Amino acid sequence: MGLPSSLKPCLFLFFLCILSVSTINSTALKKETVFFGGKFPALYVIGDSLVDSGNNNHLETRVRANFTPYGSVFEGGKPTGRFSDGKTTADYIAIYYGLPLVPAYLGLSEDQKNNITTGINYASASCGIFPDTGKPLGKCLSLSVQVDLFNETIEKNLKKTFKTQSELSKHLAESLFMTAIGVNDYAFFYNKTTDANEFANKLLHEFLIQIQRLHGLGARKFFINNVKPLGCYPNIVAHTVPRGSCNDQLNLAIAIFNVKLRRSLSHMKQKFSNTSFLYSDYFNFMLGLRGPSSNQAGSNLMDTTSPCCPSVYDGGLTTSCRPNSSSCKMPDTHVFFDPFHPTQLANFMYAIECFHARTVCHVVREK
Ligand SMILES: *[C@@H]1O[C@H](CO)[C@@H](O)[C@H](O)[C@H]1NC(C)=O
Ligand SMILES: *[C@@H]1O[C@H](CO)[C@@H](O)[C@H](O)[C@H]1NC(C)=O
Ligand SMILES: *[C@@H]1O[C@H](CO)[C@@H](O)[C@H](O)[C@H]1NC(C)=O
Ligand SMILES: *[C@@H]1O[C@H](CO)[C@@H](O)[C@H](O)[C@H]1NC(C)=O
Ligand SMILES: *[C@@H]1O[C@H](CO)[C@@H](O)[C@H](O)[C@H]1NC(C)=O
Ligand SMILES: *[C@@H]1O[C@H](CO)[C@@H](O)[C@H](O)[C@H]1NC(C)=O
Repeated sequence: MGLPSSLKPCLFLFFLCILSVSTINSTALKKETVFFGGKFPALYVIGDSLVDSGNNNHLETRVRANFTPYGSVFEGGKPTGRFSDGKTTADYIAIYYGLPLVPAYLGLSEDQKNNITTGINYASASCGIFPDTGKPLGKCLSLSVQVDLFNETIEKNLKKTFKTQSELSKHLAESLFMTAIGVNDYAFFYNKTTDANEFANKLLHEFLIQIQRLHGLGARKFFINNVKPLGCYPNIVAHTVPRGSCNDQLNLAIAIFNVKLRRSLSHMKQKFSNTSFLYSDYFNFMLGLRGPSSNQAGSNLMDTTSPCCPSVYDGGLTTSCRPNSSSCKMPDTHVFFDPFHPTQLANFMYAIECFHARTVCHVVREK
């Protein structure tokens, strides 16, 4: 339990040292202080590139991260398909709860699927909540397809592993279901002329249908990430005036979705007994990393606007981190590893703020 002992980020961020040393102590590690219950038999991951652990490696698409410089600080220094130099937020959640890192569904053989009871990752880069999101870039697993695949896991694999229906139900009810999806729907389908309120309602409706399907399949514990502030991401920021500021209109539209999301989780909590939701405010976490008012990485120790790879980035939409892109020497000095995704350091900081500072993640209560 507890976050990994790597103190490397401390070299760059003094505040992290203080936080990790003062919070990862024996008191903090006592069972009752573990956030959100604490003992999960499995972590099932649903989402997009923020948490894809290699599914897109097996799909016909150019949206992949299975080449260097991706994965340069991952265990063994190998690219895995994760869109980062190292671990993702899903990896840190698994570590925090004492679970193994969650393998990508499409990378597993049938034998492996029959032998895994600690969780599977269905997340797929470029996809989203709407079925057509990401499709112009190639194949990917949309949210409803990810839930279909989870259902298949139950039918074909978990029903074999768990001998009785009650054992299976117990496994599903006690497991943690993490979602991190929705930003690509904004990237593909939202523009200046879209009605933000209407768009958010439509997207949320589709999202909640899939959460209800998961609930229908037996899921009872949900870790829901809201949608990130795309308007501050390097690929968008490069086109703003003054250069480097955020696209506030886009962020505002996303914030409207997030407010509705949080409210509807309260409603769902009321409607479904025995169901818990953790709402993770990833949006404000990422904004906090950039903001001048931030007490953290806003320091000039860290580059909060330009990606590590490619190291020279002009914001061209086709410019992304490629096999022959040059990348920065020290990803730990950047918030963004590529124009769309955070570095391991940013993901680690997220885990600290979610689980130890508890400023980002909140257990949803009934209204
Ligand atoms: C351990 O961490 C907790 C916060 O999680 C803090 O309240 C407590 O004072 C710390 N104990 C020691 C001995 O540092
Ligand atoms: C099943 O998983 C366990 C623990 O992860 C491992 O030790 C074992 O070799 C696996 N068996 C098969 C048949 O893959
Ligand atoms: C903007 O989005 C709307 C739907 O919200 C769509 O009908 C319209 O074609 C889009 N406009 C552009 C320029 O992409
Ligand atoms: C799961 O799969 C079973 C068997 O194919 C099917 O009957 C059921 O409707 C599916 N459930 C969901 C929620 O998709
Ligand atoms: C809630 O969960 C408990 C134990 O996990 C179970 O005994 C009870 O029947 C559940 N209640 C409902 C309404 O599902
Ligand atoms: C990247 O490398 C490939 C071959 O490895 C080459 O075909 C391509 O032109 C290179 N792209 C750039 C921008 O240098």
